[in-house]
Parts: sequence; C-alpha cells; structure tokens
Amino acid sequence: MNNPPIIGPAALPALAELLRQTPPSRLFVLADANTARDCYPRLRPHLPAHELLTIAAGEAHKTLATCTEVWAWLTAHHADRHALLLCLGGGVVTDLGGFCAATYKRGLRCVGVPTTLLAQVDAAVGGKTGVDFQGFKNHIGVFQEPEAVFMEPAFLATLPPGELRSGYAEVIKHALIADAAAFTGLRGLRVAAVPDWTPVIRHSVAIKEAIVAQDPHESGPRKLLNFGHTVGHALESYLLARPGRAVRHGEAVAAGMVCESWLSAQRGLLAAAELAQVEEVVNSSFERLQFAEDELADIAAYALHDKKNRGDEIKCTLLRGLGHGIFDQAVTVADVAASLRAYRNVM
Ligand code: GLY
Repeated sequence: MNNPPIIGPAALPALAELLRQTPPSRLFVLADANTARDCYPRLRPHLPAHELLTIAAGEAHKTLATCTEVWAWLTAHHADRHALLLCLGGGVVTDLGGFCAATYKRGLRCVGVPTTLLAQVDAAVGGKTGVDFQGFKNHIGVFQEPEAVFMEPAFLATLPPGELRSGYAEVIKHALIADAAAFTGLRGLRVAAVPDWTPVIRHSVAIKEAIVAQDPHESGPRKLLNFGHTVGHALESYLLARPGRAVRHGEAVAAGMVCESWLSAQRGLLAAAELAQVEEVVNSSFERLQFAEDELADIAAYALHDKKNRGDEIKCTLLRGLGHGIFDQAVTVADVAASLRAYRNVM
C-alpha cells in the first residue's frame, strides 16, 4: 500500500482530500445492495461527481460474471487509466473491485472503503484481490495494493451481529499469531458490547501490515495469517456445499483456530492452559459448529485443496505459545480429522 490506512472519523474527510489533491479523470463507485443502502448515503457528501454501480450482495456473486458487469460498466462510461474505482463494501466488493481495477486496461486507480469488520481488519489490507471460481474461494486473482484505504468504524453499526463476529475472528487470529498481550486484552471482550471499534481495528491492522510488509507475496511469514484457515476453510467449504448448513467465514475460522491450537498442543507447542484460553476467547463469542463423526473424513479432505499447500502436503500455521505463530508445519488429513474430532467431543 502506498499509505497506511486512515482509520477513524477522519477517514472520509481524508478520502475527500485525496480526491481534491489528485483528482481522477472520472470517479466510479462500486457498492453492493447492502452498502448502497446503508453506507453510500454517509459517503456521498464526501465525493465529487461520480457514477455508482450496485452489484448483488454476497459471496455467491464474487464471480467472473460480476467482474464482466463491472468491466462493461467502466467501458460503457469510457473509463481511462486515470479514472478511479472506489470499492465501498465488505470483502466481496473490495476483493472483486480490486481485481477489476487491477485488470481493466492493465490497471486503474483504486481505493478501498471497507465497511465490515472483516474487510477492515483483513480483506482490505495487504493487496490480495480476486474472485471465486468453480467452487474454490479466491481461486483467480492478483496481488495489487490499492492506492489508499479509508476505514470509517461507524459503518460497523449497520452490520448484523453475526457479520461483526465474523470479522472478530480475524482480530483474535492476529493477536494469537503475533501479540500475546493483545490476546490477553481480548479475554473480556464481548462483540456486542464494544462501544468503539477504532482502537481494536488500529491494533489489528498494524499487526497485519507489519506481517505483509515483510512478505507481500506470501512466500514466508505472510503464511502466519493462515492460522485457523486450514481447518477453517475445510469446514467452510464442506458446509457451504450442504444446503442450509453454510456458516460465515469467521465462524469457520474461529472453529479452525481451536482445532489448530489443539494440534499445536498435541505437538507440545502450546500448553494445556494456553489451549484453554484460546477456547475461552473463541467460545465467549462463537457458537460451536455442528457436524457428525461420520463427516470428519470428508471435511478433512477439503484441507488438501488449500492454496498454501505444496503438492499433496498440507501446510498449516500452528502456535508456539500464545502470540507466536509458526508457518509451514506439515499436517496430514488424519491430523485435521483428529482435531475436528477433538473439537466435537472434548472442547
Ligand atoms: N487474509 C490473509 C492474507 O491477507 O494474507
């Protein structure tokens, strides 16, 4: 990223200032049905003349078909390479919009205005863009940092509680892999009772930015950010494919963090008391995911598809103590199944 994200009530005025200082040839705003209704009215007074495109909301629309809609809209309005695409939304809009901007005429100016906790602490930081393809999440995409990111925590008041919790899983993850004191600070936190998310977002974004700065293209330490996601993605993908059982990304990651902490404890990397603390923090905000013993093998098999693997080896991030992640730890499908069994039966 060219500049660190602007986080807090000064974010939207700072966006207006950027547009004044370096005006684009045309301004295009990409929103989804939710953010067009709930967030755009608050953003609009800060913007000069622009075009708005509203796409359908939800992960099901994070597709190349929606990209075609965006590229066609830019083309119809004669967007040139000095135009700017402003992505107003959660992770679907910022990932998909960033990808469209990176690829349209080989690159359009792009800024992010993430509106969910998940997008603010994770998706809109670090330059990953892309779309889902043939059932695989984020299968097609590029690394491309936006020109700037503006985070207004007041947007979070428009979110349903489940969506807020989903982002909170990534806050827990950042603390667990890199900041033991921050993790301790989360022990009393109740998602529904946080009066102002600004300090939590600032701290969590700072952790992610420091990791991404060391390894923007994920050949090393950025893999730490995969903690909870090997098992979490397997659960998310398996349940998504079963009608009526889909869970939010953060709910799956929360369960995945418990499973991967259990694997860490099994290897003697995490003390039993530390595992208990992870469970306490996760259980205080997330309901347990439901799956049956005879589903474990099929869920675990999904872990073989993780993008971070090499060949048939599953590469996982584990914890060596709270606040210290270690990446590229080889685990087997049987290990993943065992951790899911432990989550079901014991924890
Ligand atoms: N969400 C993980 C990463 O940005 O690397």
